[in-house]
Amino acid sequence: MSFFETRHLTKHFGGLTAVNDVSFQVEQGEIYGLIGPNGSGKTTLFNLITGYYPISSGTILFEGQPLNGLPTWKICKHGVGRTFQIVKPLRRMTVLENVLTSAFNRTGSLPQASDKAMEVLEFCELTKRKDALSSGLSIGDRKRLEIARALATGPRLLLLDENHGRTHPPGTGGRGEADPQGSRFRHYHHHRGAHHARDYEFV
Ligand SMILES: Nc1ncnc2c1ncn2[C@@H]1O[C@H](COP(=O)(O)OP(=O)(O)O)[C@@H](O)[C@H]1O
Ligand SMILES: [Mg+2]
Repeated sequence: MSFFETRHLTKHFGGLTAVNDVSFQVEQGEIYGLIGPNGSGKTTLFNLITGYYPISSGTILFEGQPLNGLPTWKICKHGVGRTFQIVKPLRRMTVLENVLTSAFNRTGSLPQASDKAMEVLEFCELTKRKDALSSGLSIGDRKRLEIARALATGPRLLLLDENHGRTHPPGTGGRGEADPQGSRFRHYHHHRGAHHARDYEFV
């Protein structure tokens, strides 16, 4: 049994096939990049995995359990987190409040949710901006907030949709070095007791 697997995943929008017979497996600790030109179906694949769109055919298995047909919040509870290519912060809330909202996915306790929120804000280099309204953030900080919100849900599978397009991910000091985010996530997960990661490209 794979940690995560899709089998023959397909999505039609009317006459357009956006995702066509996609099968792959991911084991715990692996990091994959999904590469393809605009319009090749990357975002749609994420939307299928997270239940944002119903699939046309195929199967999605997370730790052997089918995710097909589950609502997005249940898929999140199972441990699948994601960011959105078009970032969608809760605009009238502060950065901290946005991340707290996500942290309540795993706990009903305010102190525990606050600890989690502060931990991911630190990781995403947003601690200094925690009391800023999310509507006032730069695009770079909004993308970091998007990662923080996803991490605060406590995901075991994290899907990042073009999260560092046109910006610098956490840990680069604004310099945008090659793949620092992969190594930072590997470090984060290692620190939290997960397996060592291996990196792959999935084309
Ligand atoms: N909700 C939708 N309704 C109709 N067509 C869509 C919808 N979402 C995506 N598409 C189409 O599916 C194809 C794949 O889009 P997308 O998954 O956004 O590609 P990518 O993320 O690789 O740029 C495109 O042709 C796009 O226009
Ligand atoms: Mg896309």
